[in-house]
Amino acid sequence: MTKNDHKKTVIAKPFVKWAGGKGNLLNILESQLPDDFDLQKNVTYIEPFVGGGAMLFHMLKTHKNIGRVVINDINKDLIRCYLLVKENPQKLIELLTFFEQKYYQLSEVAKKTYFYEVRNEYNNMDLDDDHRAAHLIFLNQTCFNGLYRENANGGFNVPFGCYKTPKICNIDVIMADHEALTNVEICCGDYKSVFQQLSIGYNFIYFDPPYRPLLGSGNFKQYSKSDFGDGEQVELKRFCDKLTARNCKLMLSNSDSINEDGTSYFENLYNGYFFNKVLAPRFINAYAEKREKQIEILITNYDNPNKPLPLIL
Ligand SMILES: C[S@@+](CC[C@H](N)C(=O)[O-])C[C@H]1O[C@@H](n2cnc3c(N)ncnc32)[C@H](O)[C@@H]1O
Repeated sequence: MTKNDHKKTVIAKPFVKWAGGKGNLLNILESQLPDDFDLQKNVTYIEPFVGGGAMLFHMLKTHKNIGRVVINDINKDLIRCYLLVKENPQKLIELLTFFEQKYYQLSEVAKKTYFYEVRNEYNNMDLDDDHRAAHLIFLNQTCFNGLYRENANGGFNVPFGCYKTPKICNIDVIMADHEALTNVEICCGDYKSVFQQLSIGYNFIYFDPPYRPLLGSGNFKQYSKSDFGDGEQVELKRFCDKLTARNCKLMLSNSDSINEDGTSYFENLYNGYFFNKVLAPRFINAYAEKREKQIEILITNYDNPNKPLPLIL
């Protein structure tokens, strides 16, 4: 199959499953872009907490007026994966094919043993960048519920997933993503560093930071050993003010977290911004029966009076 065949048949989409992935909220996020988004020329699109990149791939596909794209995440190994998909997809395919062929030949008991061997290598061995990226994708596809979580020491600690033939090497997706990422600038670090990346013209920034837990729940929010607590949520709001002062358009999603007095944490924090609430399915939870729909808040620094929300999921 040639590069162009991939372009025709397979749509770029996340190559990892990621906690908080936005795959099921894309039509809602799309509906909340600024009214005049498609009228802008040469938009710079920035995603400072890119994770699995569901919104990134959607934007790349849907809005041809985007001239420049910058993505960032603090998770070094995740960014190594993006870089490898962009720069050397054949190497990634080679490494993942090895994992897949080996894994499929093993009995269920041996699969489990192999998973923990690879996890141990990932956590304790000095792997080069390419192998670290391939290890992450293998673990992501074979671990329980396909999520990424680190313990306090920064070790990947998700248990074995017990799936018979998980897709470990999805060549079509890797090649479609490779093409989509051709001109994407990929950064690794704290989200604030994207301030240096602003363009002179129209900048649109979509923030999908770690969720603040809903009151009293044990919601998942640990993507890396650095926790994202209330101090960080307040700092992020200040950063949004700074971007607003620079005339950037921004949208931010989070859980609709409730204060002890029953008021909305984010409506208080983002006083003066605009809000919409949607019911979103949460797919990654240790207990399947707790995978219920939860209210997610969308915050923008622009009003969209002509764009009502589509029907809630
Ligand atoms: C909710 S996830 C993003 C989900 C993503 N939009 C998707 O569709 O899959 C949050 C991401 O923020 C990253 N992160 C956490 N703290 C960060 C920081 N200080 N700066 C940049 N990224 C950070 C995590 O590594 C994680 O990938």
